[in-house]
Amino acid sequence: MIHGSLFPAASDASDVSGDCALRVGLIGTGVVGSGTCQVLARNADLIAQRAGRPIRLVMATARNLLKAAQVLGPDVALVSDPLTLVRHPGIDVVVEVMGGVTLARTLVLDAIAHGKHVVTVNKALLAEHGSEIFAAADAQGVIVAYEGAVAVSIPIIKALREGLAANRILEVVGIVNGTTNFILTQMHDAGLSFEAALRLATELGYAEADPTLDVSGMDAAHKTALLAAIAFGADVPLDLVHVQGIGTLDPFDMVCAQALGYRIKLLGMARQRSNALEVRVHPTLVPEKHLLAQVQGAMNGIWVNADAAGPTFHYGAGAGSQTTASAVVADLMDVARQGSAGLSARVPHRSVPSGVIRSWPILPIGQVASRHYLRFELTKRPELLTRLNGWLQALGVDVQRLAHVQHPQDGMQGAVVMLTQCLTGDVLLGAMEALRQMSGGLEPAAMWRVEDLN
Ligand code: HSE
Repeated sequence: MIHGSLFPAASDASDVSGDCALRVGLIGTGVVGSGTCQVLARNADLIAQRAGRPIRLVMATARNLLKAAQVLGPDVALVSDPLTLVRHPGIDVVVEVMGGVTLARTLVLDAIAHGKHVVTVNKALLAEHGSEIFAAADAQGVIVAYEGAVAVSIPIIKALREGLAANRILEVVGIVNGTTNFILTQMHDAGLSFEAALRLATELGYAEADPTLDVSGMDAAHKTALLAAIAFGADVPLDLVHVQGIGTLDPFDMVCAQALGYRIKLLGMARQRSNALEVRVHPTLVPEKHLLAQVQGAMNGIWVNADAAGPTFHYGAGAGSQTTASAVVADLMDVARQGSAGLSARVPHRSVPSGVIRSWPILPIGQVASRHYLRFELTKRPELLTRLNGWLQALGVDVQRLAHVQHPQDGMQGAVVMLTQCLTGDVLLGAMEALRQMSGGLEPAAMWRVEDLN
């Protein structure tokens, strides 16, 4: 612990906060942590009025305490050991915005064990260890709130849990990763390569120093698993979520998709089928008039289809400091309002009276049906096209739309692109293998799924 005039001692925490204030301990003072401090300070009066009591940041821990002291000012006690913070009697709620999984899990579970509520934006932590963390929180009677983990400024957890509570949710389809949406937008609008668009995303501060989780689709998978859990009342094991990132997407397919009236977006999808769930993340063709196709740059958009409300669309910033803080502080206000009442209802599938969590089977991707986009490089052998149509017909693959597309770069081969009828992944792959054999080696240069979302 650091003592001195610059750093009030940790034991001062309860004194500075007053009796009725909700006393917050902050782990991590980076982009989201500093935004949270700014919002709490700037809107303190309004927040106190709406939450029914003041919310006061009284203690923090960070890797760089001197830098943290500059961000937080003199009224916040700084401690070097996060365990001191999560166990401190002068803290009511721990805000975890440090990221990572292993240490974050230890600290969150320790905070819960010491009776603290937790607000986190850590989607990886909840997607991997949510069952353990929510069970521990239920047992202790504390809240684990995570609005900022899924779509940053969009209050989608609240919308699903409260605003749409009367509905049976049919599907949730979203652009939930700002970095990849920025990259795809640059590839589409400015014709940048994936590498150049990623460099720009890094320069502008959208992509993390290590953008692997974003680019690989894992960040979107974490968020989609959390959305599926809240929408369908199910625990969704991360390893059953089909994930494909944007690294292998050829920008030429964005041009071809446009020729067919579509845009390619990295979608996270959770959909209820008769007795199973589809939960998947991959680049997908979306009709260019659909609202999801209009989500540009680092923005996020989530389309929810529900049985009573019908479709609703939720749009907002997909990354950022105060944009994420908006969700963190709203969660703190929920904690301030609710005290310890009705906690398990916050994660509805965990409020089953018997304590039995519903376990939905997750459909393997090969059994998931959708329309597909296929690209064949046939332009140097146009006579093959007639034969291809015949082969596809014989294999039960209907070509529902077809276009010839010239490659925008000189000297590059153009393509024939097409959309199929709705087929499962297994059926399509089987047909493509049969095509290869019957045609002496013809196969699509690219295959992506299509979602018409109507
Ligand atoms: N890296 C994330 C994104 C940050 O780009 O969406 C917000 O979760």
